[in-house]
Amino acid sequence: MNSASTSQRTILVTGGSGFIGSNFIHYWLKTYQDDAIINLDALTYAGNNENHVQIADDPRYTFVKGSICDAALVDSLVKSVNRIVHFAAETHVDRSILEPALFLETNVLGTQVLLDAALRHDIQHFHHISTDEVFGTLALEADTQFSEDTHYDPRSPYSASKAASDHLVRAYGETYGLPYTITNCSNNYGEYQFPEKLVPLAITNILEGKKVPIYGNGKQVRDWLYVQDHCSAIDLVIKNKKFGETYVVGGLSQDIPNIDVVSMILELMNAPSDQLEFVKDRAGHDERYSVNWSKITTNLGWKPAVSLKEGLQKTIEWYEANESWWKPLKIANKDFYEKNYQPISQE
Ligand code: NAD
Ligand code: TYD
Repeated sequence: MNSASTSQRTILVTGGSGFIGSNFIHYWLKTYQDDAIINLDALTYAGNNENHVQIADDPRYTFVKGSICDAALVDSLVKSVNRIVHFAAETHVDRSILEPALFLETNVLGTQVLLDAALRHDIQHFHHISTDEVFGTLALEADTQFSEDTHYDPRSPYSASKAASDHLVRAYGETYGLPYTITNCSNNYGEYQFPEKLVPLAITNILEGKKVPIYGNGKQVRDWLYVQDHCSAIDLVIKNKKFGETYVVGGLSQDIPNIDVVSMILELMNAPSDQLEFVKDRAGHDERYSVNWSKITTNLGWKPAVSLKEGLQKTIEWYEANESWWKPLKIANKDFYEKNYQPISQE
């Protein structure tokens, strides 16, 4: 039996000290005054509790440091909640190329530990956060898109581990009747994103007077979703409680190559258009992600509220105002940047 009463929902958020999880916790506590959140986060290099200074004393918020792979800890927490929203993961494709084992441990085995606990304690709703990267890559210049019906074809250790976690969630639904939903979203950007992903790396490099590294020829395409829009999509999916459903979530309706996204950032920051450098391409670099997010619009009435230009402007302003948040992260992760980036001539 869950100890939480039904009037007060208690939600276990995993990975709530990372980028999307932090934004989600702020969104949720602001939107649902009666709900409580337990944030289970291992505080890896990507987790940062400075994201939560403004809620640290909120009686509705509890932080627990620990891993989703720790079955005893997970069991003790799941016992006291009625919902789980699962963000915790290793998330950076480039790091998955350097160290794949960690991705399997956290993203696959950690998810399975959570699923087992969810069953044992009759969790009312397990929402799993996943990625459009599980679908593999689309051809450049094609007019095809990913949708909920696209078959899985992951091509990086990261996307393969996320695909495995999606399969496990569905298997627990089919086999044991776990009430689950899944969202496969596109590339998020916004406040509190670790400065290793393209958008925050570009913004912080420009603020430091450095060039923005572009892999290969920069023609690769991603769909870009402002993180607050992602949070409102998750909210609707959770509220709707249509178990067994998957929704693809995206932010754009037309392709924008990476080089154009970086050019927009340079322009918004009044930086010279040539403050970028082409570097050695990522191994197995997926060419194009484009998502057809019409199902969540038709079924739940969701659509993104923020355009790419507005979202980038808000994000730039946040990084400009929060140098004390990102600067120490860049210094502490100097070794990763040095290992990951090589001049194009070494290809
Ligand atoms: P992030 O890397 O910023 O944060 C991940 C968080 O998980 C960190 O706080 C980290 O400490 C925590 N964590 C890692 N291993 C853990 C473990 N074993 N136990 C407990 N906590 C652990 O990631 P993000 O960008 O916020 O992504 C959140 C989720 O959204 C992930 O599942 C990711 O696959 C998915 N997603 C992200 C994007 C994106 O663009 N960022 C796009 C699609 C899907
Ligand atoms: P990233 O932000 O790492 O997200 P993902 O790999 O999950 O899509 O990368 C987004 C795109 O930007 C991807 O095509 C790789 C490219 N990229 C660069 O060109 N330079 C960079 O320094 C980074 C981090 C990414």
